[in-house]
Amino acid sequence: MTIAYENLARPEDLLGYRWPAPALPASDSLISTRQLVKVIGTTMENQSLVLKGMDLDIHRGEFVSIVGASGSGKSTLLYLLGGLDRPTHGEIYISGLPLSGMNDATLTAVRNQTIGFVFQFHFLLPEFTALENVMMPMLKMGHRTKREATEHANQLLGQVGLGNKTHRRTTDLSGGEQQRVAIARALANDPDVLLADEPTGNLDKANSQNVAHIFEEIASDGDRTILMVTHDPHMAERAFRVITLDDGRIVGDHKNPHPSPTNTASRKS
Ligand SMILES: Nc1ncnc2c1ncn2[C@@H]1O[C@H](COP(=O)(O)OP(=O)(O)O)[C@@H](O)[C@H]1O
Ligand SMILES: [Mg+2]
Repeated sequence: MTIAYENLARPEDLLGYRWPAPALPASDSLISTRQLVKVIGTTMENQSLVLKGMDLDIHRGEFVSIVGASGSGKSTLLYLLGGLDRPTHGEIYISGLPLSGMNDATLTAVRNQTIGFVFQFHFLLPEFTALENVMMPMLKMGHRTKREATEHANQLLGQVGLGNKTHRRTTDLSGGEQQRVAIARALANDPDVLLADEPTGNLDKANSQNVAHIFEEIASDGDRTILMVTHDPHMAERAFRVITLDDGRIVGDHKNPHPSPTNTASRKS
């Protein structure tokens, strides 16, 4: 579908103000946004302003949850940060590099190398084993031999507690196990950032806690950054920073001073 941009209202018209050119992000941030705006819709009548100018700095090693009512823009924000979609206005920086300056091929390469995605639905390949599903992104990337990919996939599946089920077809695994395979797959190419959109949306409480625990483990090495969109307040509490969205704006951004007890207990000091 071709969007007729000349027919769209400018974001500043919708917002009622103009803003200066994006400022450079804080130098030590891994992901930053400046004045991030997303307009959805192809005509003047149906377009809507989904993100209304967001400034955000995420640092390496942070475990952040993003909360907010349905329709507040959480998924839109996550997809923009992951380079799956382009903003209408404003800038996204990854390690200080503006994404707007990258063509689609470069953006795809950066995305494949730096970002892992976990969705509410696991999107595993049903005809393949857990091991094969986790190996797939590595073989696609071509940085590892088949033997190295096998070894790494085994290690990742061990990390998510599935070391004894690596040769099961994914259809023979439970919902919770499938989501853990999806997490292992998201980690396959050693991404700097894990983006998760409602990763426990289809899971019961015990399995959700399992996923939260795995995220804590991943975040605890201090190198990997996690951004997790969630509806579930118990999940959000496990993160060390909680960002709240409302109607396309950031309305809350605070450190979580009292992470849940299991969280504290499970973290390596
Ligand atoms: N492809 C789309 N077409 C039309 N509207 C959309 C599209 N994607 C998102 N929206 C609208 O943008 C707003 C934010 O959506 P979304 O980011 O999915 O919110 P959340 O993930 O917080 O529930 C909602 O009002 C939604 O209806
Ligand atoms: Mg959503």
